Amino acid sequence: MSRSTHQATDDERNEHIKIYVNGDLVPRAQATVSVYDSGFMLGDGVWEGLRLYNGHIAFLDDHLDRLYEAAYCLALDIGLTRAELKQALWDTLKANEMHTDVHMRLMVTRGRKAKPFQHPQLSVYGATIVIIAEFSQPDDSVLEHGIRLCTVPQHRGLPLTQDPKLNSHSKLNCIIPLIHAQQAGADEALMLDPFGFVNTTNACNFFIVRQGEVWTSTGDYCMNGITRQKVIDVCREEGIPVYEKNFSLLETYSADEAFLTGTFGAQTPVFNIDGRQIGTGQAGPVLKQVRAVYQRLIEREAMQQRQQQELSL
Ligand SMILES: Cc1ncc(COP(=O)(O)O)c(C=O)c1O
Repeated sequence: MSRSTHQATDDERNEHIKIYVNGDLVPRAQATVSVYDSGFMLGDGVWEGLRLYNGHIAFLDDHLDRLYEAAYCLALDIGLTRAELKQALWDTLKANEMHTDVHMRLMVTRGRKAKPFQHPQLSVYGATIVIIAEFSQPDDSVLEHGIRLCTVPQHRGLPLTQDPKLNSHSKLNCIIPLIHAQQAGADEALMLDPFGFVNTTNACNFFIVRQGEVWTSTGDYCMNGITRQKVIDVCREEGIPVYEKNFSLLETYSADEAFLTGTFGAQTPVFNIDGRQIGTGQAGPVLKQVRAVYQRLIEREAMQQRQQQELSL
């Protein structure tokens, strides 16, 4: 049975959600964008995946920093200030009466085009902003059974072509490796860097644990994952030795533990890579510790923000 790091339990409330489309909150069935939209036509846009825990959007400022940075690089005018965009997220959650275990996809494209060609100057109507918020609980069976990875021939490349740090609407550079992994009977794709060092997966950042040390790639060729950085931060805080370094498949296959990081699943165990069992084939002690401290970090951030809001009242 195939699993995914983004596997959520079914929730029929999602059939009736309201979706934010350029300032309007529209029932799901009526939420559409133009066939001339730069995102639909060309994948010309950027997005963020965000998570709501107990009334708190985790690491919201980090996500908005990344979004605005990418938009600036693409000369894409979002058309809303950070405060307005934050308000749009909260309005969407409010319209859907959502409080916890919610996943949001915030999408910004260069907007509707005057003609069906790639030139950005044809996107004359302003950005299209869509926010889909769904009730979403990661499926616990993924934690129990772990993810099976398979190394794929597509690697994460240099920023000379498309910078892997751009969270672009077009995910073909992730979907192609994922298709390759699926065809080979794995759940997701493990991607190497241009030199053959282990880098990342099609949808998450990748970590291994060896003799109590946590290793992840240098970060040079992969998405600058917010969860990746938080895991590095919590390891440092907890006194767990953590290194951003080059390592090969040889060191990966013989790791004690391996796990993936991403906003949706936080930290997801990997139990098999290229047919080799990793460690005991069960969630290891370092992963369990990191998961627990990461949850506490989110709670701490939520508490600090509540205190700041109370002080400013
Ligand atoms: C290719 C890729 N790697 C990693 C991540 C994880 O990033 P984050 O931890 O910010 O969710 C994402 C999420 O969008 C991604 O698309």
